[in-house]
Amino acid sequence: MEAQYNIPPVPDQKVADPTNFDGIVVEGISKSFGSKQVLEDANLLIHKGETLVIIGRSGEGKSVLLKHIVRLLEPDCGRIWVEGQEISQMEKRELMELRKKFGFLFQGAALFDSMNICKNVGLMLAEHMNWSEERLRERACECLSMVGLDGAADKLPSELSGGMKKRAGLARAIVMEPEYILYDEPTTGLDPITGDAINDLIIKLQKELGVTSIVVTHDMPSAFKIADRMAMLSRGKIVFSGTVDEVRQTDHPMVRQFIEGNSQGPLGAF
Ligand SMILES: Nc1ncnc2c1ncn2[C@@H]1O[C@H](COP(=O)(O)OP(=O)(O)OP(=O)(O)O)[C@@H](O)[C@H]1O
Ligand SMILES: [Mg+2]
Repeated sequence: MEAQYNIPPVPDQKVADPTNFDGIVVEGISKSFGSKQVLEDANLLIHKGETLVIIGRSGEGKSVLLKHIVRLLEPDCGRIWVEGQEISQMEKRELMELRKKFGFLFQGAALFDSMNICKNVGLMLAEHMNWSEERLRERACECLSMVGLDGAADKLPSELSGGMKKRAGLARAIVMEPEYILYDEPTTGLDPITGDAINDLIIKLQKELGVTSIVVTHDMPSAFKIADRMAMLSRGKIVFSGTVDEVRQTDHPMVRQFIEGNSQGPLGAF
């Protein structure tokens, strides 16, 4: 099937010295679950301060890849460096320190059902900072306000709509003022206006606070709006990476098929 398409080779994303790279280096990550290989020698660079959008079809391993970056999953082989430090070598305490630099918006928001939104958002703060209840609440409400959820602090997750839960998850991701934010489908399930407000927030966090963002999304208008660069995951590998202009101009058949939403092409239909 693929033979009829002119598919360029996988780009070389290796750096000479990952211990000296300002950002994140994912080098040769492979991961299987049982007999199913999800990632196979995936290489990716994330430069400090950029917004990198990861695209790829459902089930290709985008969420799995994100989880490796904060060691919520361990690779079968391959290594990851964050600001020159190899994360697989970190002791528990070092890993905890590293995770404080990261905010993670999980694909399903991952809120705790029994805690109100204020407690959910402030969870990391309560764990890591010796703050009064009042100060915790103030910061949680500030973040809720940034995502347009004023007044939701005392509600339980079950009382929120899907889109509101997603935004509460986003408030939780930014509460610690992270240097890196991993967004897994930040605009999926949101109405277009709210989705665009979230895009503006992602851009604002980058511009004003210098946040480095990795965004997994299928929402192509959002991807083009927020990305500095895009990378495409297919069959376990990053098969393409480039700037937004390069994505627009590329004739890589997989990228073209994806961004045009075409059922015909090397990625197949199902
Ligand atoms: N903890 C796990 N245990 C077993 N299999 C898993 C686990 N996590 C992910 N998988 C499998 O890995 C594959 C990739 O999953 P992943 O969630 O990363 O896909 P995705 O690219 O994020 O898809 P989507 O766009 O639908 O979110 C799937 O086949 C999934 O079933
Ligand atoms: Mg996913």
